[in-house]
Amino acid sequence: MFTLLSSLPLSSPALAAISVLGVLILFLLKRLRRYSISYLPAPECPSWLVGNIPEFQRPREAGDADFQWSKKFGLAFRTKGCFGEDILYLADPKKFGIPQAIQYVLNKSGYNFAKTLELRIRQQYSTGYDSIVWAEGEQHAKHRKIMNPAFSYNALKGFVPVFTEHAKKVANAWKDILDKENGNSSILNVPPWLSRTTLDIIGATAFGYNVGALGGSDSEIYKAYYNLYSQTHYNLSNFTILFRRITSFLPPFLVKYLIYLPKKDLKRMGSFTKVIKTLGEKILAEQVALHATSKPEGKDVISILVKANFSEDPKKRMGDHEVVAQFMALLFVIRITAGHETTATTLSWIFYELSKRPDIQACLRNEISETRKKVINRGDTEFSIADMESMPYTAAVMKETLRYRPIVLHLFRRAIRDDVIPLDVPQRTASGNLINEIPISKGQAVTLSVCVYNRLKSIWGEDADEWKPERFLDESFIAKHSYHVGVISDLTLEMQVILMELVENFAFAPASSEPDIKAAVASSVVQPMVRGEEHEGSKVPLSVTLVQ
Ligand SMILES: *[C@@H]1O[C@H](CO)[C@@H](O)[C@H](O)[C@H]1NC(C)=O
Ligand SMILES: *[C@@H]1O[C@H](CO)[C@@H](O)[C@H](O)[C@H]1NC(C)=O
Ligand SMILES: *[C@@H]1O[C@H](CO)[C@@H](O)[C@H](O)[C@H]1NC(C)=O
Ligand SMILES: *[C@@H]1O[C@H](CO)[C@@H](O)[C@H](O)[C@H]1NC(C)=O
Ligand SMILES: *[C@@H]1O[C@H](CO)[C@@H](O)[C@H](O)[C@H]1NC(C)=O
Repeated sequence: MFTLLSSLPLSSPALAAISVLGVLILFLLKRLRRYSISYLPAPECPSWLVGNIPEFQRPREAGDADFQWSKKFGLAFRTKGCFGEDILYLADPKKFGIPQAIQYVLNKSGYNFAKTLELRIRQQYSTGYDSIVWAEGEQHAKHRKIMNPAFSYNALKGFVPVFTEHAKKVANAWKDILDKENGNSSILNVPPWLSRTTLDIIGATAFGYNVGALGGSDSEIYKAYYNLYSQTHYNLSNFTILFRRITSFLPPFLVKYLIYLPKKDLKRMGSFTKVIKTLGEKILAEQVALHATSKPEGKDVISILVKANFSEDPKKRMGDHEVVAQFMALLFVIRITAGHETTATTLSWIFYELSKRPDIQACLRNEISETRKKVINRGDTEFSIADMESMPYTAAVMKETLRYRPIVLHLFRRAIRDDVIPLDVPQRTASGNLINEIPISKGQAVTLSVCVYNRLKSIWGEDADEWKPERFLDESFIAKHSYHVGVISDLTLEMQVILMELVENFAFAPASSEPDIKAAVASSVVQPMVRGEEHEGSKVPLSVTLVQ
């Protein structure tokens, strides 16, 4: 049980303390549980302290452990967390709850994220921040209400010109590079470019602020953000896994002091947080000054917030300046982790997959240029939303990539009450019985497996392990599986605008060196990296050629 202990870089008093703490935590957790899930089959657990978490966190390729175990045990089994805690691992399509759950996490209004205390603290932690805001529960609810309109579909539609402007900016930057190299083709590392683009878009849409990551003004935020995730969440050591688990039990007001500990990942998050907080204060001050003298018609979140403060209705006023600045910073961080990460990373995967499939790339480019012709023929210059919504092949490419390369491998939940989880596929217990449902107690930890679910042959077909956009064009498939197809619904206009602009202008092919691209796990988020060059973070070098 304690084989791991000697391999951790800890002194023995610290170890003794951790172990005592672990036993305590385990005892408390067990007291909450009326139903045990110990009858479910489980993979071997190499360590009482960190359980199976290292296998999930440090696979050779994202989902290795998941695919192997689900093949062996089925779609509902048991894994171990820290201190021997039993975690229900679920990929069964019935109660899975994933359609809602996925929406929840990926929905642009990402505060839904903070579903459970544990998740909430995980979030705080990855931001190194936000405790003050969350502590102000009422404040938070109020801000949220004021801001809801900023996240409506209509508001997002209004941002399409902003998306287009930035998509053209990145396309022009690429054209400049190709020009300078005196040719039509160059090797470009795609993810940082997309990251810059989406970061600029967040700045403009959420805060009316020019981040300048694509050149122009200061890009201090981009520098602070660059590779943040891979530097703080990739290749976690056993010690960090354990440390994060223990700190998840800290009361929120203590969490913010964690950044003062001498730990590299915490320092890294802390410095990012500082940049963002300073920015939050700066933007807020600017906006307040602006709104005091004029009535600008900004649709971004901050304009809405500031406008509300000039409202007659005291309920809509924002209160303490400090809290609002913090709230904005939090919002920024959440948008980055939820929205920015999804858009930039999914686009990187799309270009990677397209580079290997010139046939699919040609179909996609064809649909885009056909739509372009329609636009020009009617005398317009830009795609309308209706144009974009009538592009089935483009939608299929995005949906298939979200299915095949999900950004989030797992969703973590804790049951908020006793519940019974019905199963679609009967599960064999460790002793060989078949069961159709699993009773769970309040507090039971559940891992919802997005990666296994997205590859289920029973839903997606025998070719589930292939990237194949055509599956989303098949009417009979969609009719039969509309519920599941709906799961892959985090299509955003932002992603589509950037995709269309770049595919219209550039062709993608594998770089001549053909680096070994792997799906790397950075905590729960998957990023493409080059094997052997993981320290460089998200990386996909592709040969990019101007389309004439
Ligand atoms: C981390 O824990 C795993 C067990 O889950 C063990 O196999 C591995 O050797 C440990 N690594 C280190 C560096 O201690
Ligand atoms: C996602 O966001 C949209 C638009 O704000 C909203 O209508 C929808 O209910 C949200 N879905 C979930 C599951 O929160
Ligand atoms: C770039 O493309 C143009 C048009 O297709 C072609 O005429 C030109 O030779 C190409 N230049 C290079 C360096 O390949
Ligand atoms: C992960 O970290 C360990 C040190 O803790 C290092 O030896 C190893 O090379 C790293 N692996 C990758 C793939 O970065
Ligand atoms: C909103 O206005 C009140 C006074 O009306 C002020 O005390 C408060 O600081 C303002 N909030 C912000 C965020 O400017």
